[in-house]
Amino acid sequence: MVKKESALKTMDVPIVDLSNPNEDLVARAVVKASEEWGIFQVVNHGIPPELIRRLKEVGTKFFELPETEKEAVAKPEDSVDVEGYRTKYQKDLEGRNAWVDHLFHRIWPPSRVSYRFWPKLPMDYREVNEDYAKHLKKLSEKIMEWLSEGLGLRREALIEGLGGETVEYLMKINYYPPCPDQDLVIGAPDHTDVNGITFLVANEALGLQAFKDNHWIDVKYTTSGIIVIVGDQFHNHENLKSYSDSKRMSNGKYMSAKHRATMDKEKTRISWPVFVESSLDHEFAPLRELITGEDNAPKFKPYVYKDFKFRKLKKLPLD
Ligand code: SIN
Ligand code: FE2
Repeated sequence: MVKKESALKTMDVPIVDLSNPNEDLVARAVVKASEEWGIFQVVNHGIPPELIRRLKEVGTKFFELPETEKEAVAKPEDSVDVEGYRTKYQKDLEGRNAWVDHLFHRIWPPSRVSYRFWPKLPMDYREVNEDYAKHLKKLSEKIMEWLSEGLGLRREALIEGLGGETVEYLMKINYYPPCPDQDLVIGAPDHTDVNGITFLVANEALGLQAFKDNHWIDVKYTTSGIIVIVGDQFHNHENLKSYSDSKRMSNGKYMSAKHRATMDKEKTRISWPVFVESSLDHEFAPLRELITGEDNAPKFKPYVYKDFKFRKLKKLPLD
């Protein structure tokens, strides 16, 4: 039996309303939330609520198809990449099982899209996902621009550091069936995201939790709100001796948020994170413009993203 961690119910992850006409204020709120939490919700973000509703609808319909239909986009046995559909039942180290079916496919840039991993059914799956990719790219770039300015840099700095036009947007759909026994099964064990930044929407079943000040906090979201999660490429705090003595792309300013997903007792929970990340061969490092003089010597070595991901997967230490 796994001991239940205490949950602090009095705090909520920050909500940032992007429709506020005072852009400086919005930018500052995004920067503050990224420093203090590494996870926050954006609302009135410019992506039409109807598009988000349809994104969830087409994804849900795909997962409701018979297994044989879903296998049409299965991840090939011999594939070294993540794209494709998989049903997974995985043992977690804490003795709980992680139980989730998922689908991965890139949605941007067009040169990296393999439609063979995009569901053919429902018929409007492709149109909706293409539309979402375009809108999400705009939102993501806006947020990365604010985060760059929050570091005192040019707006393009973080995007360029991540790879500029080669930056990839990887869609994942997580499908968690209902689970009556929360002590035995967890949706996603606690982790930080390895990529730069993640944008997540989910169906009406709650279950995402963030770790803050030693407590797990339920992350609430509105129907069209988008959860933003800062990842390890911007800042990995897992392997740090202390938060302040370590720096990655943001030179330690932004926090990659530890989070996990629980399953609902009665409802199926579905989430749609999109991981914004470097292409596998891209080398990234603390941004050069942040390295000014001896006091700010780079404390992280550069990594080719593929090696960075691999080391994390294998739980090897990162420098
Ligand atoms: C994850 O971060 O791996 C899953 C998050 C979620 O399902 O809400
Ligand atoms: Fe995650």
